[in-house]
Amino acid sequence: MNVLVLAARKGGSGKSTLAAHLGSYMAEHSRPTLLIDADPQGSLALWHQVRDAGDLSLHVGTKHLAATLAKAKRDGVKWVLIDTPPNADASVAEAISHADLVVIPMRPGLFDVDAVQATIRVCRELIKPYAVVINAAPAKNGSDDPMVTDARGAMQALDVPTWAGQITHSPELALSLAHGAGVHEFSSRSSGSEEIGNLWRALTKSFEAIKAVTGKHAQSV
Ligand SMILES: Nc1ncnc2c1ncn2[C@@H]1O[C@H](COP(=O)(O)OP(=O)(O)O)[C@@H](O)[C@H]1O
Ligand SMILES: [Mg+2]
Repeated sequence: MNVLVLAARKGGSGKSTLAAHLGSYMAEHSRPTLLIDADPQGSLALWHQVRDAGDLSLHVGTKHLAATLAKAKRDGVKWVLIDTPPNADASVAEAISHADLVVIPMRPGLFDVDAVQATIRVCRELIKPYAVVINAAPAKNGSDDPMVTDARGAMQALDVPTWAGQITHSPELALSLAHGAGVHEFSSRSSGSEEIGNLWRALTKSFEAIKAVTGKHAQSV
């Protein structure tokens, strides 16, 4: 079972958006997936309600996280996506403590680059693999927009692993959620759909690499 936690201290960075799009991507590829909405704001749960389909299970709340994950594992769930609130609540650190990988969505911008550092510190303290995903970026015009180049440079200077791709700011990403869908279900030929697919493949590779290392470690102890 792979546990992916979406975390970022800043509201609006795209945690719930990416959780929903990745969740629906997994549903379409028939991977038993559990969504956990650990944010009292309830965005992911709202999307799940609008979706009104039985293809993704949902747990709401921060209580009994360890027991919920243990049950999911027993039930054969392959992927767990945990959406977290934009604050320093103990529930965020608890979710991160259960993560195999933490995805930190970040808009390219000075305040956003500054804000991710608090979440990165928590990941480092808990010794959890993490990666920044640049979200709601200006569209590429042959190459990265200068905002994205700046943001990447800042992450590189801080030695922060950052996904080489980007999720562009696009209306389809917001509109599809309003229909309870993911962008690939709503608009399968859009660039947003391609980007979410690219992100999914990059995450899958990261999980494989992480499991290979932790598996080796487990065998050697
Ligand atoms: N790539 C994107 N393109 C267009 N709109 C986006 C994108 N990412 C996020 N949004 C919009 O920005 C707002 C905040 O995103 P959300 O996922 O709720 O952030 P968070 O969960 O981190 O607070 C939402 O209205 C969402 O639709
Ligand atoms: Mg949210």
